[in-house]
Amino acid sequence: MRLIFLGPPGAGKGTQARILASRLSARQISTGDILREHRERRTELGKSAEQFMQAGELVPDELIIKMIERELAAAEGFTLDGFPRTVAQAEAFDALLAKNGWNLDAVVLFQADREALLKRLTSRWTNPRTGRTYNALSHPPRTAGIDDDDGGPLVQREDDLPQTVAKRLEVYDAQTKPLIDYYRIKGKLLRVNALQSVDAVSESITEGLRARAAAS
Ligand code: AP5
Repeated sequence: MRLIFLGPPGAGKGTQARILASRLSARQISTGDILREHRERRTELGKSAEQFMQAGELVPDELIIKMIERELAAAEGFTLDGFPRTVAQAEAFDALLAKNGWNLDAVVLFQADREALLKRLTSRWTNPRTGRTYNALSHPPRTAGIDDDDGGPLVQREDDLPQTVAKRLEVYDAQTKPLIDYYRIKGKLLRVNALQSVDAVSESITEGLRARAAAS
């Protein structure tokens, strides 16, 4: 499948993209994870992106579009987690779909309120090596600060500080929310209540996609 997971920071896009990758035959492509990796390796892209990420702002469209074009060159099924985030990115992605003769199956919209998002992000812990996330409130690791799977250290993302989270939510409202209408008009939108349990959200997504496929 070719999917976009759209929604505010902390809505659970990354969590679900990882869980559903094999069930949906759709490899997770997270622009946030790719940028963090570039930052870690101190590449030109990583250095250019750093200041925007720290401030909770979007990285300029031209850098992101080039990056995603490279990433999708070898892709078959995918879930885009964190892209597109502006109308310019969505238009560039449409051109890429057309160039490759690809169909976009659906855009899953994760719906959650601001209070829940703030709570989730400020209690998130991530394994920087694998991208796996935990949550001190809803899904804690067996031992605090240690990944259950590989025993690696868990860290808090620097953009999960309360003031940066508030900025990211503001940026989402101003620059990414217009994409809801963009994809609704194209008939691609599948709305999901992201405030349910992780398993219930997975179920809602798979059920919703099944129903869309049966109806088409
Ligand atoms: P990015 O890494 O994409 O961050 P984001 O979109 O803000 O998304 P998050 O990773 O914060 O949230 P999520 O929805 O994936 O939630 P998660 O599953 O982790 O982007 C970071 C930065 O990179 C941006 O600010 C920007 O600077 C730059 N960037 C990236 N893409 C860009 C682009 N296209 N254009 C320009 N700039 C770009 O879950 C959150 C927490 O909640 C976790 O602790 C998890 O365990 C928990 N949780 C998940 N689901 C549930 C549930 N159902 N119930 C309870 N807890 C849950």
